[in-house]
Amino acid sequence: IRYIDELQLTGKRTFIRVDFNVPLDGRKVTDDTRIREALPTIRRALELGGKVILASHLGRPKGPDPKLSLEPVAARLAELLGGKHEVILTDDCVGDGVKKQVKELKEGQVVVLENLRFHKEEEANDETFARELAALADVYVNDAFGTAHRAHASTAGMVPFVKEKAAGLLMKKEIEYLGRVLKNPEKPFVAILGGSKVSDKIKVIESLLPKVDALLVGGAMAYTFLKAQGVEVGKSRVEEDKLSLATRLLEAAHRLKTPIVLPVDHIVGTEPTEKSSKQETPDNAVPKDMMGLDIGPKTRSLFTQHIRDARTVVWNGPMGLFEVAKFADGTRSVGTAMANNKQAITVIGGGDSAAAVEQMGLADQLSHVSTGGGASLEFLEGRELPGIKALETR
Ligand code: 3PG
Repeated sequence: IRYIDELQLTGKRTFIRVDFNVPLDGRKVTDDTRIREALPTIRRALELGGKVILASHLGRPKGPDPKLSLEPVAARLAELLGGKHEVILTDDCVGDGVKKQVKELKEGQVVVLENLRFHKEEEANDETFARELAALADVYVNDAFGTAHRAHASTAGMVPFVKEKAAGLLMKKEIEYLGRVLKNPEKPFVAILGGSKVSDKIKVIESLLPKVDALLVGGAMAYTFLKAQGVEVGKSRVEEDKLSLATRLLEAAHRLKTPIVLPVDHIVGTEPTEKSSKQETPDNAVPKDMMGLDIGPKTRSLFTQHIRDARTVVWNGPMGLFEVAKFADGTRSVGTAMANNKQAITVIGGGDSAAAVEQMGLADQLSHVSTGGGASLEFLEGRELPGIKALETR
C-alpha cells in the first residue's frame, strides 16, 4: 500500500474518501471525532498542492433525504479548518454540475460532495456510478477506515478507474495499530471484550484466543458464558441459542491454556434503566429477580491487574450499561487501567468503547482509539477489508 505522503499532488484533483458518518442531532454534529481524525490527511493533501474533493456517506438513506445532507458536517469541517479554507458543499456527488464545480476549484478551497448514499448505486457498487466518481479524480485517497469493510463504489469500485491511489494518514494509523495487535503483539497480550452479544464477537474471540495471554469478558455477553457454565444469571440478558457455542469457546480456551476471565461479581439491578435499583453481588451468581448491569468491584480489580501487567491491550465493547451513570464504573475502570499503563500499546477497537473513552476524557491517554465500528471488528477477526484490499498495488 502506498500512502498519501508518497504522492505528488500539485494541481491534481485529489478525491479523498472519508468516513464522515457521524452522529447528528437534527442539524448538529454531536460527535466530530471522525471529522477531526480526517484533518491530518486533508491538511496534507492541501499542503501538497492537491485540489481536495471529499466524499462520504452519512446514515443509511433510501435515496435523497435532506435530513441526511452532509451540510452540518461541511460546516463543522470549515470550523475545524480554522476558517482558512472555504468548504463548498455540492448538491449531488455526480453529474455535470459537480464536474464543473470541481474544475473551477481554486487553490485552498475544499469540495465536499453530497451524501454518496443518495444514490443506491453507491452501495450496489455499480460500475457506471463508480466510473462517474472516478471521472472527478486524478488521484484516489482512501482515509475512510470506518467504511473499509464495505465493498461500495467509493471504497472499492472506483479505485481501478483512477490513475493513482493511496491510503490516507488515518487509514495508515488504523492499519498500524490494529495490525500490530494481530501480527506481533508484545506479550503479555490481553484482550477485553464486552457488549451485549456473544454472537457479534464470536469471530473476534476465535481470532484472538490463540494470540492472547488472557481474554477478559464483561458486559451482557458474559452472562451467556456464565449460564453455559451453570451459574445462576437471574433475569440477565442471555443469548439462549448461543449457550452451546459459549461452551465450545470455553473448551477451546481450555485446550489452548488461555484463560477466558469471566466476572466474579456483578452490579445488579431491577431493570436496564436509570430508575433501576443498584446492588453488589457477593459472587458470580445473579439473584433470580435481578439482572446483571455492570461488573462488580472484585471483577474491576481483577481486570485492572491483568491490564496493568500487559504490554499490549485491545478492548472492544463496554463492561456494562455505561450510558446509565450508576452502571458505568466497570467500563470506566477498564478505560482507566488502560490509560494508566504507559508501557503498553493500548488500542480501543471502536464502537461503544471508543465512545465511552471519549466521553470519559481518556482517549488522549491511549495509544489508539479506532474510528471504526464494524470495520475494526472485522479487522480484528483477521478478515481482509475490501477498502484496504482495493489500495494494494500489484
Ligand atoms: C460505520 O459507522 O460503521 C461506517 O460508517 C459504516 O456505516 P454502515 O454500517 O451504514 O455501512
